[in-house]
Amino acid sequence: MKAVVGGASSGLGAAIARNLAAQGYDLLLWARNQERLSSVAQSLTGVKIETVAADASDPGAAEKVADAAGEADILVLNAGGPPPAPADKTDADEWRRALQLLTVTPIDLATRLLPGMRERGFGRIIAVLSSGVREPLPELSYSNSGRAALAAWLKTVGRTVAADGVTVNGVVPGRIDTERVAALDRAAATRTGKDEADVRAASIATIPAGRYGQPEEFASVVGFLASPASSYVTASLLSCDGGMMRSLT
Ligand SMILES: NC(=O)c1ccc[n+]([C@@H]2O[C@H](COP(=O)([O-])OP(=O)(O)OC[C@H]3O[C@@H](n4cnc5c(N)ncnc54)[C@H](OP(=O)(O)O)[C@@H]3O)[C@@H](O)[C@H]2O)c1
Repeated sequence: MKAVVGGASSGLGAAIARNLAAQGYDLLLWARNQERLSSVAQSLTGVKIETVAADASDPGAAEKVADAAGEADILVLNAGGPPPAPADKTDADEWRRALQLLTVTPIDLATRLLPGMRERGFGRIIAVLSSGVREPLPELSYSNSGRAALAAWLKTVGRTVAADGVTVNGVVPGRIDTERVAALDRAAATRTGKDEADVRAASIATIPAGRYGQPEEFASVVGFLASPASSYVTASLLSCDGGMMRSLT
């Protein structure tokens, strides 16, 4: 079985690649930077690994990745996040770029790989989302909106393909300790004039578990959704957040 994993050169995507390789899935890994992708690929053993460099904010990315994938049984939709911006100071060109990155490319890629999954009677599509789809985050205007649109599509298509053995789910991270989260903490420290350690401590104080999650903890949720054991879980959004999110859904 083959899995396609986006944003696989660092953070959550690299941890998901390690989890799926350990489960024995062959992998196609993609992100923008070929060197970092190759380094992740070389660290994985025992399965066939391919890589392809593509930029999810480029309208041609989905076709490039789908062509490289051929047939795929598991598709993990993941890439980088757009820059923070206050909701009253967004920019039309940045909206187009963010919606391509967060919404259009993942839907385009999934739409290209879905027919093969349905024909073979098995498929898993899993999107990495953000707590902003449940509780919009201050300053993350592009991310809140683009990911909410993707989440709505996941729920819709999940029901469309449910009878064909294909499940479609999203996993909602709270604060998982990756370079992206460190960069957001640094940006918040600069914006507010606070110390970075104080920003991180204030963020951790909102998490009942009392710490940021580890990428491996997040990857194990995706690994479960990728496995045959998750066959009756579809059109769902699962949180991996140490209890951070307060909303019921
Ligand atoms: N960590 C968290 O707690 C958390 C919380 C909420 C949401 N998220 C979201 O989850 C996703 C993964 O987060 P992370 O923490 O793993 O971030 P990360 O460590 O920064 O990793 C992002 C990955 O995506 C790739 N990438 C970035 N921009 C891309 C683009 N335009 N096209 C293709 N690939 C791209 C990066 O590689 P290249 O630079 O080589 O392209 C890298 O492999 C992000 O969208 C992030 O916003 C994470």
